Amino acid sequence: MLKKFVFAVVLVAFIGVKFASSLTCYSCIDATSCRKPTIQTCTNATANASSLWLSTYHNDVPEVAGSQSFMCTNLTYYTGPQIPPTASIGPNNTVTSQFLGCVHPDIRICARTLTDPVARATWNSHCGVCYTDNCNYYGPAGTFSSSAYTIIASIAVLLLAKVLS
Ligand SMILES: *[C@@H]1O[C@H](CO)[C@@H](O)[C@H](O)[C@H]1NC(C)=O
Ligand SMILES: *[C@@H]1O[C@H](CO)[C@@H](O)[C@H](O)[C@H]1NC(C)=O
Ligand SMILES: *[C@@H]1O[C@H](CO)[C@@H](O)[C@H](O)[C@H]1NC(C)=O
Ligand SMILES: *[C@@H]1O[C@H](CO)[C@@H](O)[C@H](O)[C@H]1NC(C)=O
Repeated sequence: MLKKFVFAVVLVAFIGVKFASSLTCYSCIDATSCRKPTIQTCTNATANASSLWLSTYHNDVPEVAGSQSFMCTNLTYYTGPQIPPTASIGPNNTVTSQFLGCVHPDIRICARTLTDPVARATWNSHCGVCYTDNCNYYGPAGTFSSSAYTIIASIAVLLLAKVLS
């Protein structure tokens, strides 16, 4: 019984690694294109392209040589009333800048600084990251996909490490 359980855990861990290396994310670079985002596969090259784009309006995007795994993001700047962390932009908000796509985890996208001081003082930011295919999309319910799968996979890896040690 225990052996079976360990096998299942190992299997989950392997599948997790495979999914992580071929993650896909919704992709768009401004309010207009984000009305109809496309889908991109995360690679060092696409994550580099994201860093490059984010550098056009943030002055502190770190250079990352490469990542083993990636994450999907939705970074939205807006004006108007503050929206709760899990809500969508409301009728009284204006999206001033928006980016969806694959990023290197190490750029810590949700902690970046806007270069333009006026924007920095007046824009609100709404930033989410997640780790499953096409998870950076607000469904009809307006909720960001949870990363339950990643959590399961991490627990599996931890257990695997214990078993092997
Ligand atoms: C991504 O960017 C880093 C840092 O600029 C560079 O060293 C690396 O070669 C780039 N990788 C790809 C696949 O473009
Ligand atoms: C990205 O590049 C790094 C080295 O710069 C490499 O170790 C890593 O495996 C690459 N990631 C993918 C998914 O190819
Ligand atoms: C939007 O603004 C209008 C007019 O000020 C107000 O009546 C309405 O309640 C606001 N809606 C939201 C969702 O904040
Ligand atoms: C990105 O986040 C904003 C802010 O919550 C939301 O209004 C928008 O619908 C999201 N974009 C997508 C494509 O899910």
